[in-house]
Amino acid sequence: QTIKDFQRTLLDWYDNEGRANLPWRLNHAPYRVLVSEIMLQQTQVDTVLPYYERFMTALPTVKDLAQAPEEQVLKLWEGLGYYSRARNLQKAAQYIVNDLHGHWPESADDLQMLPGVGPYTSAAIASISFGEVVPAVDGNAYRVFSRLLKIDDDIANTKARKVFYDAILPIVDPLRPGDFNQAIMDLGSSYMTAKNPDSQGSPVRAFNAAFRDGVELSYPVKTKK
Ligand code: ADE
Repeated sequence: QTIKDFQRTLLDWYDNEGRANLPWRLNHAPYRVLVSEIMLQQTQVDTVLPYYERFMTALPTVKDLAQAPEEQVLKLWEGLGYYSRARNLQKAAQYIVNDLHGHWPESADDLQMLPGVGPYTSAAIASISFGEVVPAVDGNAYRVFSRLLKIDDDIANTKARKVFYDAILPIVDPLRPGDFNQAIMDLGSSYMTAKNPDSQGSPVRAFNAAFRDGVELSYPVKTKK
């Protein structure tokens, strides 16, 4: 019951106030979602937007990217930094086009075959493009769920990923897993930020165990390295 309430509250908020018009949300084709998630790995949404539009205009399909000269891809990436992302993205496109004959891997497990695609990115693509019920666990998800559920695991510890994954999996909305994951991203970049406690009208405050106990800013737990 609580889980259903949480899903409904979160997705109602997302439908009414989420950033539904982000270009990678208007069209869930896997190529569009892959490019957006790779760009968003180390770069903020506002910075990514113009690069994303330019990239999609220049290379609208996975085949266009696979066949483009590397210089063109790097030129389109200029300013985003972390150029290994661009090189891996093109290798992923070449793998899909040449080795898989254009057939996309559809599960989070299989998507990890692609260069540059790890546990988070594969889960994002599988849920958004293919409707797989998997949690996409990035820094936002660590922060949001550590507070909601008061998870005390140290996120600097490699075992934390599995603890969070297992805790979030039963909560992911089974009918709208991609929207669920993206709603968590929006929550993590609006109400439930690193510096703000969830006290200013957050839609999920009633479900927030750390807020209830007045200890939000102690989450997520992270030891200094
Ligand atoms: N950050 C990473 N992936 C994102 C997405 N799909 N929407 C908004 N922010 C994100």
